[in-house]
Amino acid sequence: MSANHKLEQLDFAVIGHQESWNDIKAFINGMRSDDVGDLSLEQVKNTFGYIPPRSVFKMKVRSKTDALIHGVYIETFIEPDKLGMQHLRTNITKVNEAIAVAQSLNAKIIALGGFTSIVLEGNLSTFNTTETKITTGNSLTAAYILKGIEKASKKFNVDLKSSNVLIIGATGDIGMACTNYLKGSVKNFLLCARNKRRLEKFSNEISEGGCSVSYDTDLSRLLPQADIIISAASSNDIAIEHYKKPVIICDAGYPKNLELKIAKTEGISLFHGGMGHIGYGYDFNPDYTKHFYRYPLPHIGHGCVLEAVVLAFENKFENYSNGKGNISNLKIDDIYAMSIKHGLELAPFYNSKGLWT
Ligand SMILES: NC(=O)c1ccc[n+]([C@@H]2O[C@H](COP(=O)([O-])OP(=O)(O)OC[C@H]3O[C@@H](n4cnc5c(N)ncnc54)[C@H](OP(=O)(O)O)[C@@H]3O)[C@@H](O)[C@H]2O)c1
Repeated sequence: MSANHKLEQLDFAVIGHQESWNDIKAFINGMRSDDVGDLSLEQVKNTFGYIPPRSVFKMKVRSKTDALIHGVYIETFIEPDKLGMQHLRTNITKVNEAIAVAQSLNAKIIALGGFTSIVLEGNLSTFNTTETKITTGNSLTAAYILKGIEKASKKFNVDLKSSNVLIIGATGDIGMACTNYLKGSVKNFLLCARNKRRLEKFSNEISEGGCSVSYDTDLSRLLPQADIIISAASSNDIAIEHYKKPVIICDAGYPKNLELKIAKTEGISLFHGGMGHIGYGYDFNPDYTKHFYRYPLPHIGHGCVLEAVVLAFENKFENYSNGKGNISNLKIDDIYAMSIKHGLELAPFYNSKGLWT
């Protein structure tokens, strides 16, 4: 390569991780050639975590404007049962290694998919000096959550202005963005998170702005009042019991196990939120989708990933969503408008049982 020949640039890179060992087993065996045979779950578990982050497949995404962008998926090989605080150091190392892979591939922007943005607490300032920009994707995720709530409320004739809206994970990046956006549009906020000091501080800020707010670290005290619930917390310990009927629930948290904790679903309309639909489609090469794609319709993707896609379509290479608590209403409106321009719309309503009928 001559000195002035620059490596060709990729428009975007997506950094991600798998949600469960069953997904991983299917994914790993799907990547292996037929003649070497499948690995057992135990063999997969014994090796997966030792694989360094690497690019796994290429992507091409099409826009309504006819633009075509090129990207890559980089797997972190973070183990699904090692997402807790005790593994933070290892996971930060993996995410940083994955970012280095994206930089070596000359990606113009990186989407930090799923848990990978939480590992870094959205703090991307150390990467600001590089040519590769990074986004947590939380602005478009919040936009799809909010549009979903708006659309579901209309569908069930629920007036937002007369509703008590419960935000689980209210002090997180997405929870704060949704709460701030809904200020003035709902009757009362019910805010929930585990850390009382942070919850109290945020709730006071919201009520000082003239909104009615109740907050509690104990979800069971808020649930009986909620007409609408946005769950934007990683939901291992969240149980939906003794809730008001009917209730609309937008489950945007990961891992996706909120539905497992709902004993009776009577009166609940639950959808998986923060998801978009890529209207003009994509191609993966190699195409492993049959091994890991779990949605009820083709071309559905996470808001956090689609934000980088939209920014790449727009040639807007910047750390669009960065840090915690920095998502303004304007950012949400702007990224949503850009998303629509390129044919990326709110995903149809679905949950673990399939599409809403
Ligand atoms: N659908 C999508 O495309 C998409 C995109 C990005 C992120 N996500 C998911 O959205 C969720 C929120 O992301 P984020 O970036 O906002 O995360 P974050 O900044 O870490 O916020 C998480 C929030 O949840 C609270 N929380 C955690 N466990 C809780 C529990 N058991 N009960 C009540 N509150 C709890 C946290 O506060 P305390 O620690 O004080 O409890 C915090 O307020 C994550 O699960 C993430 O994986 C989805």
